[in-house]
Amino acid sequence: MKNYADLWVGYGERKANRDCEHLKKIRLSGAPESDCIVKNAVKELKNGMKAMLDAEPEIVFGEAAAPVAVTDGKSLRESEEYRITICDDALSLEARSGAGILYASFDLLRTVACERDVRKAYAEGKTVRPSNPLRMLNHWDNMDGSIERGYSGESFFYVDNEIVIDERTRDYARMIAAVGINAVVINNVNVKQAASLMITDRYFDKLAELGRIFAEYGIRLFLSLNYASSIEIGGLDSADPLDENVIAWWKEKMAEVFGKIPTLAGFLVKADSEGRPGPFTYGRTQADGANMLADIVKEYGGIIIWRCFVYNCRQDWRDRKTDRARAGYDNFMPMDGDYHDNVILQIKNGPMDFQIREPVSPLLGGLRRTNQMLEVQIAQEYTGHQIDVCYLIPEFKEILGFKTYCSESRDTVADIVSGETFGSRYSGIAAVTNTGNDFNWTGNYLAGANLFGFGRLSFDTELSAEQIAEEFVRMTISQDDEVVRTIVGILLPSREIYEKYTSPLGIGWMVTPATHYGCSVDGYEYDRWGTYHRADHLGIGVDRSDKGTGYALQYNEPNASIYNSPEKCPDELVLFFHHLPYTHKLHSGKTVIQHIYDTHFEGLEEARKLAETWDALKGKVDDAIFDNVRERFERQLFNAREWCDQVNSYFFRKSAIPDEKGRQIW
Ligand code: GCU
Repeated sequence: MKNYADLWVGYGERKANRDCEHLKKIRLSGAPESDCIVKNAVKELKNGMKAMLDAEPEIVFGEAAAPVAVTDGKSLRESEEYRITICDDALSLEARSGAGILYASFDLLRTVACERDVRKAYAEGKTVRPSNPLRMLNHWDNMDGSIERGYSGESFFYVDNEIVIDERTRDYARMIAAVGINAVVINNVNVKQAASLMITDRYFDKLAELGRIFAEYGIRLFLSLNYASSIEIGGLDSADPLDENVIAWWKEKMAEVFGKIPTLAGFLVKADSEGRPGPFTYGRTQADGANMLADIVKEYGGIIIWRCFVYNCRQDWRDRKTDRARAGYDNFMPMDGDYHDNVILQIKNGPMDFQIREPVSPLLGGLRRTNQMLEVQIAQEYTGHQIDVCYLIPEFKEILGFKTYCSESRDTVADIVSGETFGSRYSGIAAVTNTGNDFNWTGNYLAGANLFGFGRLSFDTELSAEQIAEEFVRMTISQDDEVVRTIVGILLPSREIYEKYTSPLGIGWMVTPATHYGCSVDGYEYDRWGTYHRADHLGIGVDRSDKGTGYALQYNEPNASIYNSPEKCPDELVLFFHHLPYTHKLHSGKTVIQHIYDTHFEGLEEARKLAETWDALKGKVDDAIFDNVRERFERQLFNAREWCDQVNSYFFRKSAIPDEKGRQIW
């Protein structure tokens, strides 16, 4: 018995498609039988079909195609494209690489697992090209086994500063490949202690093995890099990117690293951020730092993914000019066009830090001559710690669909990160992952929908949040239509509900400092991180208009004018952009204060309904899943009540304006 769940690669018995003729023989064409990814695809098809339909398909091989030379994001997407058709004698899976065959196989397995009619699904032929070149997970796992912002146990990669490779590692690779992930960063962006030694002899063998396992599922291995390695492990006294000695040290180091870990695809770097070292120390730019490393790894086909999370985290509260929201744009826009072509800037979806509601970062749609990657977070750091149910795919859909007005057409975030808008050399989407060594991988079983969903969405941005939720439930919990409808009905509104009982109207934060779970309205107000809400007895919000910090003007028109005006700004973001009196009327017709009261009471009530809905599933879903989610709901309700009480009391006492409906506010 495994000590972890199989989730969507478990494949229990299925009723539909049992008599389907087309599943007797499957023809794989375009990639050679000897390809190690193809071999894994064959294994998946045989085992999966046998488990679901009690019949192993005959696998035959068609012609091989000329492989695509992968030199950039566009050719990577071409190489991963696949086509599934029904032929007279077989079901045909065609691609131009092993990865394409693997994705086609998982497509077919998903169809059977969801009990969709195979004939109908492929009658007209189905061709799929991944929406994004890089579809990546970022682990914030530390080598001592802890996980920064991890809510589902410890790391399954590391125990006591050793890298662990076992059956779970392989199943992890299968599981994420099955939803289309093709790149993974396996260590925390904050590279400290033992993690700094990842690029030394101490870990090369294990990393090479890990890289091989990933590669057999089409997954590229990346490492987070300590920018100050030349000092910390090289014994130099500098990490100046323009210093000859530093450059020489890195050249030698990278030759060694890529020699020892042949599958290594590159590095993720958090520099000059929250105390991490970087080029600013030497009066150099972010581009200087990124380009120095990129030039060196280029000959190994390496990529440098450089994070834009650079801001002053020691802002004095009296300083109303400095605005953390501005920082990404201010630090990175001036060098647009200077980053070399194997550098990708990785940009958090919003200008702050993964709050339940933020505007889209103006760097997305600002930068035009730079490779860009979107970073989202499925680890529920600010969204309920995988205790509260918060299905994030609707949020990611909004972000991807956001019109940046950076060009006449194809101007959404999805267009930009797919590489289409600017013909970028590399691009994609990364998610800070929510996995750990818990039995069910993600703590709350329902948080698995975010892992599944992120992969599916990054592979195919056209999918709806509902389709994805439904697939998740059918593949991992139940095929019963009523159960599926019920659980999808819990997932879909859950983000909006979480938003309702937490911080209002886009202001964000109000979480307990450091842990980021639970309510503390003023917690960050008296801290140094630049995340103020500026509430007083008259009003609340941060003036980021042209009269305030000017952040709103970082957007392209018409977004800049819309955000700049309290009348035009959408309600859900209005306190992010404007400081408003509690009596200000929103588009909804409510005042700010009444909106706060109403949404908090509603959010609590709706969370209660979700929990009741779940309760009614007793006996209809697996007991272990039922109990796990039920226990989380109990904690969620406690949390929601705390938030509701504290936020409402706080604003009642600040404003002295009573609730129109006379409900109990302490
Ligand atoms: C947040 C988070 C940190 C993390 C950082 C980052 O601030 O709380 O734990 O290191 O983001 O993204 O680098």
